[in-house]
Amino acid sequence: MGENKEYILGTNQTELERLGFQHKVWKKITDSFFDRINIQKGWKCLDVGAGPGFVSMELIDKVGEGGEVTALEPSELFLNNFKEHCSKKDIKNVNFIHGNLEETDLENDHYDLIFLRWVIDFVPEPEKFLLKLLSALKKGGVIAIEDYNYEGIALFPKGGAFDNITETVRNYWRAGGGDPYFISKIPLIFKSNNIELLDFSPQSLAGDTDSDIYEWANRFFSVHLQIMADLKVISQKESDEMLADWNVHKSDPSTVFFSPIMVDVTGRKK
Ligand SMILES: C[S@@+](CC[C@H](N)C(=O)[O-])C[C@H]1O[C@@H](n2cnc3c(N)ncnc32)[C@H](O)[C@@H]1O
Repeated sequence: MGENKEYILGTNQTELERLGFQHKVWKKITDSFFDRINIQKGWKCLDVGAGPGFVSMELIDKVGEGGEVTALEPSELFLNNFKEHCSKKDIKNVNFIHGNLEETDLENDHYDLIFLRWVIDFVPEPEKFLLKLLSALKKGGVIAIEDYNYEGIALFPKGGAFDNITETVRNYWRAGGGDPYFISKIPLIFKSNNIELLDFSPQSLAGDTDSDIYEWANRFFSVHLQIMADLKVISQKESDEMLADWNVHKSDPSTVFFSPIMVDVTGRKK
């Protein structure tokens, strides 16, 4: 596949590093999600859109040597990064699938756990994507999804150009073919497909300019506001004004940033 075409945030070294930092910032939320899923030794897991393998690494520890983790990822750069890690650590119970889910044949009724973090909001046909994954899940198996329902992003004190940010980010996702509200459609899809909804928990992070969540947002907006202008999601003037507002807040001691709402979703195949 042509790199960058399908994943709007890009598959380059800058994005790889941003994903590593993002993993650290959201780790406590994902760790507590792992605890609620109660992952068992010996499970066969699929990590969809695994990126550089941050979730896969955690899953490998949890399932132990008797279990197995398959990382599916279209970016060669990201997947190679994870392959190198596994080869250095001599990890054997891992499989790699290079490709988009849409173009990959998966065995039916096979996995105990299918995990996807920050993937389903990007894909052009998320319902079809989800149904394909549900077919690959064993009876009794669990699908676990972490993604944003794009509400809640906010920068205080309010009153500047950045106040429009949530709709702007939603439009950025739409420009890549994604649905920024897909998470809120999942409960109905589960009901219609014999999946029991076990967990549907909104999560959010917030902090001042010294916090990791602020730095996470800073790394995103300082790169992506310009890309949004280049893609004509916003005009160059709007992009410049939003960035200027963001930069003014950086040196304001009263600034507080709120993340978008991320939702932890799990369903069990009946
Ligand atoms: C924001 S990154 C998240 C990476 C990883 N899941 C994590 O939590 O760090 C989204 C990933 O989804 C992958 N991706 C995008 N479209 C995909 C598709 N159609 N099938 C599988 N993976 C896809 C991208 O290449 C990228 O690595």
